[in-house]
Amino acid sequence: MKITGESKVFGIIGRPVIHSLSPVLHNAAFEYLGLDCCYVPFPVDAGQIVNAISAIRALNIAGLNVTVPYKESVISCLTSLSEEAMMIGAVNTITVSGDSLVGHNTDGQGFIASLNECGQYVNGRSVLIIGAGGAARAVVFSLAKGGAHSIFIANRTISKGKSLKEQVNKYFSTTNIVFTGMEQDDLKRVINKVDMVINTTSIGLLRGDPSPVPRELLHKDLFVCDLIYNPPDTELIRYSKDLCKGYMNGSGMLIYQGAAAFKLWTGIEPPVHVMRQALQDALQQS
Ligand code: ATR
Repeated sequence: MKITGESKVFGIIGRPVIHSLSPVLHNAAFEYLGLDCCYVPFPVDAGQIVNAISAIRALNIAGLNVTVPYKESVISCLTSLSEEAMMIGAVNTITVSGDSLVGHNTDGQGFIASLNECGQYVNGRSVLIIGAGGAARAVVFSLAKGGAHSIFIANRTISKGKSLKEQVNKYFSTTNIVFTGMEQDDLKRVINKVDMVINTTSIGLLRGDPSPVPRELLHKDLFVCDLIYNPPDTELIRYSKDLCKGYMNGSGMLIYQGAAAFKLWTGIEPPVHVMRQALQDALQQS
């Protein structure tokens, strides 16, 4: 990649960002299309988010991704929000338009695109979501928007699960949203009422982690999604290969949320196959 004085600079802010694979995805896409652009990780210390956002204008940065822990706190620094970002209450992409900084959230869109790629659709489905954090919020809103019939939210911290249910109900009053605990008995009560399970928690990130859904509860009518992509085969995914009708990990969501950000910034259709190959290579190396 050749960087010139005219190169457009994109990047990601977060803490930490050292393990982010977004630079790999975007730089591969820029290179493939021959665009004079580059994508850089910017580690931002606690307390520096306002300065970091001011630097977008000062340094002529062309667009940013935002990751943990700034997806919510960045909102007060922006000029406006897309409808999605407003509903979800979190931003993962910033576009620059003149003096305006606009916050978007492409996580839900990325999830739905990766699901569709697996031949799965949301309309009319009944879904069990494990977790109620940032990732869960984006996914739950996208499911409700996509016409899911019922969404069961299982979370360890009851108040967070209930608060997510209330937020979604404000926008989508017709979707049946139910909060449930995360104990085996709680999951057992709902698992036969759903045909899709989505793990949005970090259970599975570490080798040796258990499955967030016990093996004996999985059944053949389930399509199982684990948003974790590294490792690619969590315990939940391994069980699902044997017991369920289909499964996907989180690599597709990572690619498609990035692809949607790329389109917002450049207006150009992203080369998804190139981004996917770059991600696969990087994961193999790691
Ligand atoms: P993200 O942005 O990746 O969603 P997050 O907002 O910190 O991260 O949310 C993490 C989610 O994983 C939360 O729902 C968290 O449950 P709590 O709300 O109870 O904190 C869930 N989680 C993380 N580790 C967990 C564990 N060991 N057992 C159960 N839930 C866990």
